[in-house]
Amino acid sequence: MGRLVPATEMLKKALEGKYAIGHFNINNLEWTKAILTEAQELNTAVILGVSEGAGKYMCGFKTVTNMVECMMDELNITVPVALHLDHGTYEGCLKCIDAGFSSIMFDGSHFPIDENIEKTKELVRLAHEHGMSIEAEVGAIGGEEDGVVGKGECADPDECKRIADLGVDFLAAGIGNIHGVYPENWQGLSFDTLAAIKEKIGDLPLVLHGGTGIPEDMIKKAISLGVSKINVNTECQLAFAKATREYIEAGKDHEKKGFDPRKLLKPGTEAIMETVKTKCEMFGSIGSAAK
Ligand code: 13P
Repeated sequence: MGRLVPATEMLKKALEGKYAIGHFNINNLEWTKAILTEAQELNTAVILGVSEGAGKYMCGFKTVTNMVECMMDELNITVPVALHLDHGTYEGCLKCIDAGFSSIMFDGSHFPIDENIEKTKELVRLAHEHGMSIEAEVGAIGGEEDGVVGKGECADPDECKRIADLGVDFLAAGIGNIHGVYPENWQGLSFDTLAAIKEKIGDLPLVLHGGTGIPEDMIKKAISLGVSKINVNTECQLAFAKATREYIEAGKDHEKKGFDPRKLLKPGTEAIMETVKTKCEMFGSIGSAAK
């Protein structure tokens, strides 16, 4: 038990090797099993993201830690796995430190920068005291995440530098990315902003949120400019929903014991695995656990 690792080392390697590690959000047992199994199959390190809403849904962060650790034992998962709080509040971060997560994200992007700095600083100290990695955010990522709606902002590079200097292990900075499906009129990622941030923060790995639906050429360019962690949530949800809908619309739940949840949820679970594979190919992380 307890083989979860902080995300620091895997992201440092990714930055050096010019690829990115996938952060995939989990929602339940099937999600977790699908992502862990596929990461092992692809021999890639992986980050399991848990939003506060998903943590609540899964009956609390301690339940999540125990489920992930037991599952890793049972499935013989040997690739590096980080269990990471996604867009945490200050209180949520404290709960995850207590619950045995290996990584947290404090999202203070909606606070005035000085308040974001004060809170991030305190959490950097606490996370590191517990051997955990910590991500901070500057410039709100747009779209909707667990009911929190923001518009795609571009972070101020000087503010990024101030947060980076607090000792965070990786930094999420808004570069016009948003959560969820991108609208038709989306302007794309701002690579000028990304390059300006990179220039200020040097060797600190950058995080790209809103990984769903970003075209491959933009993903590759972002990685070449210092992005080492890419968050994907909606795409797995859409894949799961589509496969489950097809199963039911084909009337398979009426055939023999097709209504058994282990059968009913199988196509969706496999669709998540397929999505993880496609993303890891795009991010260039396959085989990275062996390096
Ligand atoms: P998507 O839901 O757009 O993939 O974004 C996920 C994310 O950034 C989680 O923090």
